[in-house]
Amino acid sequence: MTESPKPMKALILAGGAGTRLRPITHTSAKQLVPVANKPILFYGVEAMVAAGITEIGVIVGDTRNEVMAALGDGSRWGATFTFIPQDEPLGLAHCVLIAADFLGDDDFVMYLGDNLLEQDLGAFVSAFERARAGAHPPSAQILLKRVPDPHRFGIAELDDAGHVIRLVEKPADPPTDLALVGVYLFDRTILDAVRAIAPSPRGELEITDAIQWLVDQGKLVRQEILTGWWIDTGKLTPLLEANRLLLEKIEPRIDGSVDEGSVIDGRVVVEAGARVVNSTLRGPLVIGRGTVIENSFIGPFSAIGNGCEVRHSEIEHSVIMDGSRIHDIQRLEDSLIGKEAVLSRTQVRPRALRLMVGDHCQVDVE
Ligand code: DAU
Repeated sequence: MTESPKPMKALILAGGAGTRLRPITHTSAKQLVPVANKPILFYGVEAMVAAGITEIGVIVGDTRNEVMAALGDGSRWGATFTFIPQDEPLGLAHCVLIAADFLGDDDFVMYLGDNLLEQDLGAFVSAFERARAGAHPPSAQILLKRVPDPHRFGIAELDDAGHVIRLVEKPADPPTDLALVGVYLFDRTILDAVRAIAPSPRGELEITDAIQWLVDQGKLVRQEILTGWWIDTGKLTPLLEANRLLLEKIEPRIDGSVDEGSVIDGRVVVEAGARVVNSTLRGPLVIGRGTVIENSFIGPFSAIGNGCEVRHSEIEHSVIMDGSRIHDIQRLEDSLIGKEAVLSRTQVRPRALRLMVGDHCQVDVE
């Protein structure tokens, strides 16, 4: 009888600085910004659990208290979390280094906590397990996606047979358009790699360099090309794009109250305790628990969080985080509004606003 392989572990990276989503990430973890009213990080956890991986290490940085409080002990997903603090964001390979005790000798998936993928990871994980049991076991498996802006990512170069021959991090002159997606599979050899490499010019231990080290040692690095969409949510435009793609798939559901003067059109979720009064909701969109929408228009691709208040306003293609209040804003679009922000207008002017507003901010628009 053959022994079934030991289940893999996962290492989810939820530290880092998040400079590109400031001001939101001055006070919040970028991995906890919601898309379609669910923190980005939860999609990663769910992807791991769906792929059968429940022993999960989580790298946490300055925002550790918030990340740990949001994730809890993992029981709501049937997972267990081991939180691994990282004092400074010294790079993705540094995360592997400090997770050495947690990882032991086991194979693992490394998942960047700000990445969102359409595709299930089960097939990707089982392909690695099968290859590991074969005659030429790979030491790593990477996922690649063709992108229009390869200088923003780690980039892979393949030979004619599709073997990975070179990897470079954010090259000024990219050799290909094959970006490294933030999901990697490794065996324990990656620990030797992260101990062998030196910091990059930006001062980080790059996982890209660690994988290049594996290639240079003659180790096999498998690759697969991703077919579905993939978004690195670290900036506003991709974050709104992820929100749009996820809202497109929501199942309509009205658990809150909608009065007779309101119109609901398209795929709309109104969560329990929410109240919609004399308003038009044109989906796809979601209204969070306990939120009040009054005399307003909420347009496609909007995610309004829990406990918000929207009165006499128009919102479209925006993410509004929990507890925010928006009053008399004639039109707000392509915006990200932080938690408990207050947005109001003293004079009505026919001009659309595009904003990124931090947590607890108050903005009076004249
Ligand atoms: O999104 C894919 C890209 O992710 C790859 O193509 C690149 O090769 C890879 O280096 C990475 O690039 P980014 O510059 O986008 O990585 P970022 O600094 O945004 O970090 C990714 C996640 O890891 C994020 O959730 C923060 C977390 N992190 C990051 C660093 C540097 C940590 O937990 N600790 C760290 O030290």
